[in-house]
Amino acid sequence: MAKRQPSFACQSCGAVYNRWKGKCEACGGWNTIVEETGSANPMVGPVATRPSRAKGRIFPLEGLSGEAKEAPRTPSGIDEFDRVTGGGFVHGSVILLGGDPGIGKSTLLMQASAALAKQGHRVAYISGEEAVAQVRLRAERLGLGQAPVELASETNVEDIVATLTQGRPPALAIIDSIQTMWTETVESAPGTVTQVRGSAQALIRFAKTTGTAVILVGHVTKDGQIAGPRVVEHMVDAVVSFEGDTGHHFRILRAVKNRFGPTDEIGVFEMSDQGLREVPNPSELFLAGRDLATPGTAVFAGMEGTRPLLVEIQALVAPTSLGNPRRAVVGWDQNRLSMVLAVLEAHGGLRLGMHDVYLNVAGGLRITEPAADLAAAAALVSSLSGSPLPPDTVYFGEMGLSGAIRPVAQAPARLKEAAKLGFSNAVSPVSRTEKKEKLPLAASSIGHITDLVAGIAARKRKAS
Ligand code: TYD
Ligand code: MG
Repeated sequence: MAKRQPSFACQSCGAVYNRWKGKCEACGGWNTIVEETGSANPMVGPVATRPSRAKGRIFPLEGLSGEAKEAPRTPSGIDEFDRVTGGGFVHGSVILLGGDPGIGKSTLLMQASAALAKQGHRVAYISGEEAVAQVRLRAERLGLGQAPVELASETNVEDIVATLTQGRPPALAIIDSIQTMWTETVESAPGTVTQVRGSAQALIRFAKTTGTAVILVGHVTKDGQIAGPRVVEHMVDAVVSFEGDTGHHFRILRAVKNRFGPTDEIGVFEMSDQGLREVPNPSELFLAGRDLATPGTAVFAGMEGTRPLLVEIQALVAPTSLGNPRRAVVGWDQNRLSMVLAVLEAHGGLRLGMHDVYLNVAGGLRITEPAADLAAAAALVSSLSGSPLPPDTVYFGEMGLSGAIRPVAQAPARLKEAAKLGFSNAVSPVSRTEKKEKLPLAASSIGHITDLVAGIAARKRKAS
């Protein structure tokens, strides 16, 4: 028998090495590599040692055409949650829910399990972090003390699977969190990559054999990665992240990966003293408390999946006292800001080299769409010129390096949402097909960044 080689695994990304290193080459983490016993990489271990079989079992291969049924689902009863999963929990699917500690994962899942249990489904909530009394206390506080959820505080995966397979399998089982689980099949300590992977494998097998939908909670590190369980990401059917900063009340549920539904939908919640409340009209919330007369704010008409979302983009451009001007951005991409600034300098005639630039997306939202380029540019130009933008106008459009503004998808939906919220004008590139349609509000079509700069300068002249 071959001597078992020691193996070392990175605790943050799961990369496996045959000797210890101070820095992980795969993820760049320092001091994250730990020796693990047992087969750290199941892809190498069992496959490599398996004796080659002379004859395998013959199985039939099938064509693409054939009967395909829509996956059976159980709606959670929380609309914002179902929007993200694509209509409810698919039977036998496994969801990894990631998020910062204290963001409200346990609260959300307690509310979802109570809602499901009240519909008559069997729901099990297994907490590896809190005692039963603590979970009960939270449920009580949420006004859900009477919901027939089955609770336990357990960390051994074999015991959990044995308990849950007794009787009618639950419709939903929640494992809070995967980092606290351990399986007897692996020798490493709980929380290590090997344990997390082994436990997840056992729970995924349980989900697939019984048809129970399983939600695994995973904690996230400072830089936004799902720590340890990153290795679980490609084993599960869906990865959903729960974000927001603790300074704001908004919480956003976002699918990062979804085998059974969309990945661009978001669910919006508000944390209150009675738990998470759904926010069906997020635009109203994100625009509340808007300062109309200040230079440097622009309203961006964005899209999150199929839902339009209006949000304020704030910019501050101020003379710098440093040799190296600062560029700081919250809620948007730093590279995107650099690009917009470069285009404004090269094609818009702005001089920003001696100015600090700050950009913020109000409400703690994070925007990923390139369509926000124009709104960010408008806020920046407005701040630099000291001229407030018209308060009844929304902005959207993608900017090219030449300064040309390109049309973006779903313009009619964005305009409709803006009209619904009382805006009367939109500055955006309008595509040829949209020109023929009847638009719900006046759209000032612009094709180049110079039009935007000229428009704001003309407004300033008129005001003075
Ligand atoms: P929790 O669900 O325990 O977070 P996680 O499981 O992601 O670590 O939520 C923790 C925070 O939520 C806590 O700081 C208090 C706050 N909270 C409320 O504001 N209202 C509530 O009704 C509840 C239950 C929690
Ligand atoms: Mg928790």
